[in-house]
Amino acid sequence: MTAKLARPLEPAPVYDLAPPAEDFLSDVVRGLTARNKTLPCKYFYDEIGSRLFDRICELPEYYPTRTELSILHRNASEMGELLGPRCLVIEYGSGSSNKTRVLLDHLKDPAAYVPVEIAREHLEESARLLRHDYPQLEVHAVCADFTRPLRLPRISRPAARRVVYFPGSTIGNFTPEEARRLLERSASLCGAGGAMILGVDLKKEPRVLEDAYNDREGVTAAFNLNLLARINRELGTRFDTEAFWHHALYDPREGRIEMHLVSRKDQQVALDGHRVSFVEGESICTEYSYKYSIGDLHELARLAGFTIERSWIDDRKYFSVHYLVVPERRDDSRR
Ligand code: TRP
Repeated sequence: MTAKLARPLEPAPVYDLAPPAEDFLSDVVRGLTARNKTLPCKYFYDEIGSRLFDRICELPEYYPTRTELSILHRNASEMGELLGPRCLVIEYGSGSSNKTRVLLDHLKDPAAYVPVEIAREHLEESARLLRHDYPQLEVHAVCADFTRPLRLPRISRPAARRVVYFPGSTIGNFTPEEARRLLERSASLCGAGGAMILGVDLKKEPRVLEDAYNDREGVTAAFNLNLLARINRELGTRFDTEAFWHHALYDPREGRIEMHLVSRKDQQVALDGHRVSFVEGESICTEYSYKYSIGDLHELARLAGFTIERSWIDDRKYFSVHYLVVPERRDDSRR
């Protein structure tokens, strides 16, 4: 699947648990043959998609990355104090690890850093850069879908505590039910006394939200459409990417942004022995981005077995970062 891509000069060792190519095909077939067509958003992140995503994060309309980074910069020393020495830090969906450094810089003698990321090239590159910039730090890169059960690599010193770092409001790309299960899984991965640093985008004026996912330059549109281009490249389909347009809208009842690819005309596409038909205006839902209130988050954390012990919010109340703890009295005999 990635055979065409040149390896970096100094390949970074990566534990490979990435979903195989057959999963991609069967997920695409399942999504496109359903009555309401969908595609899983984790497949956005091939090499081109990961690059486009990094550009989204810099767009003037896309406030989340910038706002979260400023919250992190302002409060990282307090986060470091709360987390304490010799943490094992596991990051879900680390991407290019831009937000990792802010935290690492304020941690005392971290035991190891384990980035978990589905985009292999991004992961290799960022692990390589981190190893270079933090020569003392043990880095174990894991190429995997972090929603699947995760086996932690062996680290050379005992950690005082496990911490899951999950910034970027990626939690919002799951339904509330999936989000709860994912947090529950993190709580049992961390065990009693473990912690999580979670970045979450907040509910706000729909206008601000919709602009963030409909940038004027069209980078988000290109990111969304790249999913069809990737399916063409890797599964040999012949989607005409010009025959679809990017549509993102906020549903205030559900509290979520929905991203769609809308067919501009009636059309058919062959896919692994299936014929996928679209009528004009029919859409493929490619992603949700749920927005939370602080109250929603306390409820979500509680259901998953965490307590939110500290929250940091920017002045405009656009974005939030939280320190969650698995209470000590929790029975973790299941591990
Ligand atoms: N999780 C972030 C969000 O929902 C970032 C993100 C994921 C995103 N997929 C995206 C941003 C697609 C724009 C478009 O905002």
